[in-house]
Amino acid sequence: MRRPVIAGNWKLNNTTKQAAELVTLLKRDLGDVTEVDIVVCPVFTALSVMADILMESNIAIGAQNLYWEDSGAFTGEVSAPLLKEIGVQYVIIGHSERRQYFGETNQTVNKKIRAALTHGLIPIVCVGEVLEERESNKTFDVIQSQCKDSLAGLGAEEMKKIIIAYEPVWAIGTGRTATPAQAQEVHHFIRELLFKGWGEEVAQTLRIQYGGSVKPENIAELMAQPDIDGALVGGASLKAEAFVQVVKNSCALIK
Ligand code: 13P
Repeated sequence: MRRPVIAGNWKLNNTTKQAAELVTLLKRDLGDVTEVDIVVCPVFTALSVMADILMESNIAIGAQNLYWEDSGAFTGEVSAPLLKEIGVQYVIIGHSERRQYFGETNQTVNKKIRAALTHGLIPIVCVGEVLEERESNKTFDVIQSQCKDSLAGLGAEEMKKIIIAYEPVWAIGTGRTATPAQAQEVHHFIRELLFKGWGEEVAQTLRIQYGGSVKPENIAELMAQPDIDGALVGGASLKAEAFVQVVKNSCALIK
């Protein structure tokens, strides 16, 4: 059985003060949840303070990006050892907003995954098609090439540590969630790719999250799908009440 993982991607939102208030509420209201892994991913500048507040709690911290070199003349970048040093455990890699606005490619995603794994961070690797690709029946081709190129050269032991987040770009921030059947279809396809590339154990171990307009009202039916192992939550992770409810409702039907 795969342990579900619910992560909040705060994107470019919340000052450190607001972030501290939010996680203080999450810590209070989610302290008794043991069925799922819970992660929050604030902006870089809030990470250190978040790590202090959440120390020894059941809520882990994730970053939203990293650079693949450890140190050197790379102005403006943040590396895996620096994240690790302050208590970060997860890192989102290749989010569609980074692919769209910041030139992220499957090749840079691959380098970032390797850097994260080298330093003991758990990569949350994002894949997903845009609306035009879905409408022209290219979803599976796009997912296949994103997975193949982003995960190229990784061994089975490394793969077992990774989380993949399937985020159909047309469902991000639009209120238009993929139906549970649409999401399950792609999750199942990804699991088949994992089976073909790395074998049964990786396919059965690796967790695949769904992301795209996840809310308290739709999380349970998404989680009821056999290949959906959690969620990467944007907008609904910015309000304590909504994120608490997403986490609690995700536990309703633990498989
Ligand atoms: P929304 O939940 O706001 O649609 O965002 C999803 C997302 O991009 C999470 O990474």
